[in-house]
Amino acid sequence: MSQTTEAGFSIQTIGVVGAGTMGNGIAQVAARAGFKVILRDVKDEFLQRGMAAVDKSLQRDVDKERLKEEEKRAVISRIQTVTEMDALSLADLVVEAVTEDVNVKAGVFRQLDKITKPEAILASNTSSISITKLGAATDRPEKVIGMHFMNPVPVMKLVEIIRGLATSDETYNVVRDLTLKLEKTPLECNDMPGFVSNRVLMPMINEAIFALYENVATRESIDGIMKLGMNHPMGPLTLADFIGLDVCLAILNVLHEGLGDPKYRPCPLLKRYVDAGWLGRKTGRGFYEY
Ligand code: 3HC
Repeated sequence: MSQTTEAGFSIQTIGVVGAGTMGNGIAQVAARAGFKVILRDVKDEFLQRGMAAVDKSLQRDVDKERLKEEEKRAVISRIQTVTEMDALSLADLVVEAVTEDVNVKAGVFRQLDKITKPEAILASNTSSISITKLGAATDRPEKVIGMHFMNPVPVMKLVEIIRGLATSDETYNVVRDLTLKLEKTPLECNDMPGFVSNRVLMPMINEAIFALYENVATRESIDGIMKLGMNHPMGPLTLADFIGLDVCLAILNVLHEGLGDPKYRPCPLLKRYVDAGWLGRKTGRGFYEY
């Protein structure tokens, strides 16, 4: 698969930085759409874990006879795993999916700016950090953009596309067309804390945690009321555990600090759970036990 931009620049190879839940999902979706993928993480064990998740996810489709075994092998063979950042010099577009920390992400962007070709687009899968700030860490802010995928990436149709202050129309158009090639739906928004998805989602999750904290109802009732009453696929406490309580707290802090409104104040119970290391599904305990 390749995609030629207005300026005649062709996207054939997609780099992904970070092989965690989001990174391996993005790598899978890109490889499945026919792109060559370079998946980078700091340790081999993280890459192995990421590729095991890709294998498991594709196997679901093989079992349901929506993918042939040889197609699954071909998708996997299009993903090259590397620990060296320099390997991303071959990428035409890189999606960063590392930990949700502005300093870590800005460091990755600084490094990518040095090693990638000058025409390469640098995208971030951040859930709330300023794209403008990440762009400012590079000498190519017009080529920096947000591509916010949803978890689980292979299932969820949305990619929220965020324009930083300096993002060019050409970069936006390339990324919008690429998103369609990945069989996702691109929806555009401007660079404000939490964008649209988390500006709306996180206050709902936080309010559900306050309801638990103030003993309005049990966790099962809170989730059941929202699931059955609003037709949500998961209740808000289950969803918080699924996203990761540390991630929810980090996003709420960005909303609280960035918008300066006390309505975004993270619930003390959420802070206590994160302090305890109860981060949700990934640690075996959050609002529920796994
Ligand atoms: N990889 C591939 N396929 C997967 C999968 C994965 N990791 N997880 C689930 N699936 C597929 C299943 O194979 C199944 O496919 P089928 O219906 O075509 O056969 C389908 O998804 C439904 O899965 P299940 O039957 O196992 O389970 P559910 O019906 O409970 O669905 C769910 C699971 C899709 C996760 C659903 O509960 C859901 O949509 N939950 C809400 C998810 C959500 O809100 N995500 C956004 C989080 S916010 C975010 O990501 C932004 C960040 O910034 C915080």
